[in-house]
Parts: sequence; structure tokens; C-alpha cells
Amino acid sequence: MAGIKIAVFISGRGSNLEAILDSINREEIKGEVALVISDRKDAKGLERSKERSIPSVYIGKSNYSDNESRVDKILEVLELKEIDLIVLAGYMSIVDTSIVRKYKNKIINIHPSLIPSFSGKGYYGSFVHKAVLDYGVKITGATVHFVDEDTDTGPVIIQEAVKVFDEDTVDSLSKRVLGIEHEILPKAIKLFAENKLVIEGRIVKRRD
Ligand code: GRF
Repeated sequence: MAGIKIAVFISGRGSNLEAILDSINREEIKGEVALVISDRKDAKGLERSKERSIPSVYIGKSNYSDNESRVDKILEVLELKEIDLIVLAGYMSIVDTSIVRKYKNKIINIHPSLIPSFSGKGYYGSFVHKAVLDYGVKITGATVHFVDEDTDTGPVIIQEAVKVFDEDTVDSLSKRVLGIEHEILPKAIKLFAENKLVIEGRIVKRRD
């Protein structure tokens, strides 16, 4: 299938990876997931990708002890697979600056809040939803953004909001936000694959 070659970086369950694969199967995205990289050997998402016969590699501290060898290995497999777009889908490691520079404006991340709220260092997974509930905001959501050399600060591609209800728990809220993530991440990839995103400074605009 022609289209873009996507690498998905994961650390855990892989439900966003699944949403991308389902969207590709529905032929909504012109592309293929040509590679899955995990920094966790036991990531559930690795099982999902192997079940679907997607080339999947664990590159983490136990098989590449120092950062330099990990970065070299990641760059090696990205080049080998001729990757056009890197998608961070619950990837817990910081992507090295050398990779961010080599793949400038070709790396996107999904974050479970309306950036810039509840984002940056320390804001990941359930910590985000706990902070949302503790603060008492009435609206939250999810964001897909390009990755730059800082945490959660790159230009925003898509955001979608959800209400926060009085009876919400971290679990109920994260489930509602995850539902939104599974919609906006494939949408952002579709726009990238169709070359419909224009970056002007830190603003992302849509090309017709
Ligand atoms: C998602 O909530 C994502 O926003 C966050 O990590 C979680 C990954 O979930 N960065 P999954 O592994 O895709 O199910």
C-alpha cells in the first residue's frame, strides 16, 4: 500500500497504536505502521503489534545500557524502515535531541490534556487526570502536537475537549479522554499523510 511509513513509539498498553491500525484498516489513513519501538520489554502494545506481524523492537535500558547506543539503534531502525512520520503514543522516554532534529516536524505526540494546561515534565498518564480533578476545572481533553526539543511544547495540530463531571474519578475521566485520543490521533496522522498541515512559526494551519 503506497502512502507514508509510520513508526509508533510506545511504552505500555498500546490502545492508541490499535486505534491507528484500525483507522488504516478502514483506509482512512494513506500509510502503514512499518515499525513499533518500545522502551519497555513487557509493553502490552508490543504483543499487539507482533500479533499483527508489524516489525517491533524493544530498545531500552536492559538491551542498550547507555543513551548513545539507544539513540544509534533507534536511528538505525528508523532509517532502515525509511520512516516518514514518528508517532509517540504513550512513549515514556524523552526522545533524544538528535532524533528530534533529524526528524524535525515529522514527530507527533498525543497528550491527555488541553495543552498548555496540565502538561510538561511530570504530567503523564493518570497524574494528568488527578491534577485536573484536584484543580477542579470543568473541561479537559486531549492534544496532538508536533514534538520539539522540550516536553509537550511543540505546535498544536488537533485538540478536543470533554466535560469533567462532579462524580468523575481518575479512572472514569481517563477513559473518557482516551476515547477522544483514539479519534484525534488517527485524524492528525491522516492530515499529515495527505500533506495538509502547514507550520508557520508555532502555529499549525490546514492546507485545503
Ligand atoms: C495515553 O493516555 C496518552 O495520551 C499518554 O499515554 C497513554 C498511552 O495509552 N501519553 P496507550 O498505551 O496508547 O493505551
